[in-house]
Amino acid sequence: MVALSNEIKEIFTRTKVMPMATASKSGIPNVAPMASILLVGDDTVWIMDNYMKKTLENLKENPVVALYFYDAESKRCFQLKGSTEIRTSGPEYEQFRDRVKTKSDKYPAKSLIIVKITDVFECTPGKEAGKKVL
Ligand SMILES: Cc1cc2nc3c(=O)[nH]c(=O)nc-3n(C[C@H](O)[C@H](O)[C@H](O)COP(=O)(O)O)c2cc1C
Repeated sequence: MVALSNEIKEIFTRTKVMPMATASKSGIPNVAPMASILLVGDDTVWIMDNYMKKTLENLKENPVVALYFYDAESKRCFQLKGSTEIRTSGPEYEQFRDRVKTKSDKYPAKSLIIVKITDVFECTPGKEAGKKVL
């Protein structure tokens, strides 16, 4: 089981926008910026589907995701990979929908993407680049 360190969690939480990569079942890649992102505990990320199109289609047929986050201050960079579940109801969906709508009621908050983190890699340039850290 993966458990992010406090250092990685701090860098994740400081990041405002993350590229979210998915792929269709036939392997066509897609990447899109996401900001409605919340780290939950040590191994879970919630992402709100406000305006997803290809991303959501891909997750329905191939439920895996990759994200990266880069901290300009420390120059550290990490890649996460995970498996996903899509929720359009239930307490977790409702909790995140309310949080997103508190930021702005313009967000449709259509579905919650729950990412269980399976792998973490370093993407900081240098000798540790590409190393699997979790
Ligand atoms: C800075 C920024 C943050 C964004 N955050 C989100 C988000 O949290 N959730 C979402 O559904 N769309 C978000 N979007 C919009 C999606 O990136 C956009 O709808 C994109 O087309 C989705 O990719 P897709 O059509 O390939 O699924 C954001 C866009 C930008 C520029």
